[in-house]
Amino acid sequence: MALKVLALGGDGIGPEVVDASLKVLEVASASIGLAVDLSEDLLHGAAWDRYGTFIRPQTLDMARHSDALLVGAVGGPQWDHIVISGGPEEQDGLMKLRHELDVFASIRHARSWEVLLDQTPFSPGRVRGADMVVMRELCGGAMFARTRGMEIRANGSRRGYDLNEYSSEEIARFARIGFEVARRRKGQVVSVDKSNVFMAGKLWREVVGEVANSEFPDVELTHLYSDFASYRMCCHPTSFDVILADNLFGDLLSDQAGAIAGSLGMLASASLPDLPGDGCVQGTAIYEPVHGSAPDIAGQGTANPIGMILSMAMMLQYSAGAVSCAKKIEAAVEAALNAGFATQDIGGRQGTGEMTDAIIRQFRSL
Ligand code: IPM
Ligand code: MG
Repeated sequence: MALKVLALGGDGIGPEVVDASLKVLEVASASIGLAVDLSEDLLHGAAWDRYGTFIRPQTLDMARHSDALLVGAVGGPQWDHIVISGGPEEQDGLMKLRHELDVFASIRHARSWEVLLDQTPFSPGRVRGADMVVMRELCGGAMFARTRGMEIRANGSRRGYDLNEYSSEEIARFARIGFEVARRRKGQVVSVDKSNVFMAGKLWREVVGEVANSEFPDVELTHLYSDFASYRMCCHPTSFDVILADNLFGDLLSDQAGAIAGSLGMLASASLPDLPGDGCVQGTAIYEPVHGSAPDIAGQGTANPIGMILSMAMMLQYSAGAVSCAKKIEAAVEAALNAGFATQDIGGRQGTGEMTDAIIRQFRSL
């Protein structure tokens, strides 16, 4: 059966990096005899400009009937002022997809690359060998606040608010996936929260602890306050294996983890609605780089395609069960970097196309 993929380039550099990942997908899927049924559509700003909506009902429908979505990036200053009635998911095409597909578990992988050590702000000895997964809860918390608003008070001043809330069910289902991911790695989880201040944080710590005790006694669990976790990630990046974070802290920590790789442009993610014991994710999953739409370099052909290419590799791993092919793509990326190919964000001169072609050449030769 063919893998049904919907590619949504989105805005800014999004379409360029998605195109790059599709070139690699073509070669990689052919090499393992995987049939891919590919559709493409517009998302967020690009959809707004064409259709006057951030996401069309047809697109949502196509998404629901796909195995996997490849999403480039969304957003740009020209759409920031648009306010649609309804919750946070109505304000953003990608947020809408996360919400509708209930992809609550975002796996954001960050690792150091030997050849890029001097592109990081760290001394090589501190960051060498760092390899971590930031697990970000993606469908709840402050970023999907049901209680939110902006109002003008009697004295004329304004008040904006977004209620950060989590239920024990939301925390538990996310924690289970996090612990399962850790079990397949080094078995070490650091759960982050601000339980010293927030009630939602207290519940987070309690529920993560309960899930660990009852279902994952074999996984080592440490609780850290999120501010200290951020500091520790700078000082001892190699000490982390899997980090469990809510939607907001996970957004921050996953960008911070980009520093370990040498550029945010290197980071990939898989956003899953479930995690199979083995085999493929059941529902529709979203694969997207952690970086944004970078409007300042859009259309120049200079964007780093690696975050998107590695996200596509995560698609092969989780939605097609093609684990060794995914590993081979990562090895091809590393070989291309080692051969001296680099885009400008990682200190090189190659454009998106040259970088992608170098990765494809390495893939073919591995
Ligand atoms: C991310 C991005 C998104 C987020 C934006 C584009 C809504 O920053 O995926 O990390 O905040 O979730
Ligand atoms: Mg982010």
